[in-house]
Amino acid sequence: MTDATAATSSPTSSVLVIVGGSMAAVKAPSVLRRLREQDLGVRVIATPAALAFITELSLSTAADGPVGTDQHWFEARPDALHLTHARVDAAVVMSASAELLAGAAGGHANDLALATLLSVRGPVLWVPAMNEAMWRSPAVQGNVERLRAWGHAFLGPEVGAFGTRGEGTGTGRMAEPEDIAARVLELLRPVKRDLAGLRVVVSAGPTREYLDPVRFISNPSSGKMGFAVAEEARDRGADVTLVTGPVTLSDPPGVSTVRIESALELRDAVVAAAQDADIVVMTAAVADYRAATQAGEKQAKVAGDVTIHLTPNPDILLELGAAKGQRVLVGFAMETHAGVERAAAKATRKNADFILLNYPTREGTAFGGDDNQVTLVWPGGRHEDWPRVSKREVARRLLDEAVRVAHARQPV
Ligand code: C5P
Repeated sequence: MTDATAATSSPTSSVLVIVGGSMAAVKAPSVLRRLREQDLGVRVIATPAALAFITELSLSTAADGPVGTDQHWFEARPDALHLTHARVDAAVVMSASAELLAGAAGGHANDLALATLLSVRGPVLWVPAMNEAMWRSPAVQGNVERLRAWGHAFLGPEVGAFGTRGEGTGTGRMAEPEDIAARVLELLRPVKRDLAGLRVVVSAGPTREYLDPVRFISNPSSGKMGFAVAEEARDRGADVTLVTGPVTLSDPPGVSTVRIESALELRDAVVAAAQDADIVVMTAAVADYRAATQAGEKQAKVAGDVTIHLTPNPDILLELGAAKGQRVLVGFAMETHAGVERAAAKATRKNADFILLNYPTREGTAFGGDDNQVTLVWPGGRHEDWPRVSKREVARRLLDEAVRVAHARQPV
């Protein structure tokens, strides 16, 4: 569970909980109760499929109010239930089925849940629950990408046991009610504007070092961490430039995004953008080496072993650290052993203000995940372990620390 349960939210905040049809719908009363315990006003809509798994009575008891259903919607048409239910500060769609995702991604409005979702102004959190094969299908993943691009947040699905007919273990199990409630509170937390007037540069994703026009050396970085930092900085008022290697994420609205491929291109773009930056965050997984010579033509296969001659790439963080000025410089480091000592040594050598250390071996924090568990390491070796939280929460804490460093350097 994240630590967001500690967040305070105004007692007037309200949340819409849409319950979709899957076995996990039985967890809805627990989610509703937890949200009410946080003093939130709660509204609930159940799809017809949800009502095959859970009764209207148990939902209305847990919500302490009526449940919106398609039947009520049709009966009460002039009252536009979809508009009244949409007047909330945030919405969560739990036990979300492939069908609900498809309807929302397609902009459909043929039932109360979908029509309401179209009108919700605040953040929307999806908590999917479905069979692993369905979740991994290109159709569902395409819909998820589309909703993400519109700013919708996702929690899970998680790896675990799911289903009633021995479908077994896999990705598809819905997140637990306490985690759902914690993430809703995170979404409702008022956004600070403490970066207004500041310029933030973020690097993200992998680099590609081409050997010939069609072959390259790279790594599986998804770019999610860097995109989360860029979006958090934007929401806190910063003027943000995001320099990213090849990733499947779309350009975040309101962020100036520069797409590059190689480490040399990354270097040029970051150094140029960093000239007038206040904070530079290097999350990019930069390839340490590139081919000493890049073939202009596709290289033909030859019999026997092949030797590739590699030459080191420039270390961008090191270069920025050597001419740091008043900038706050933040690095990331992935280590498999002696993490704190190595990260502290790196921070000192590269003149970074701090480094976020992660271990690729930690469960749930591998390349591509939505969560991260990092250790904040300062140059002297002092360090602080953070819990496993969403990448957006890591971004929030990282920027809090960057602001602290900036203020310590230039008291306001
Ligand atoms: O030395 P190491 O690659 O572990 O350092 C990681 C940090 O340095 C990351 O912040 C990464 O973005 C940055 N880096 C860089 N240029 C490189 C290699 C790493 O800026 N050539």
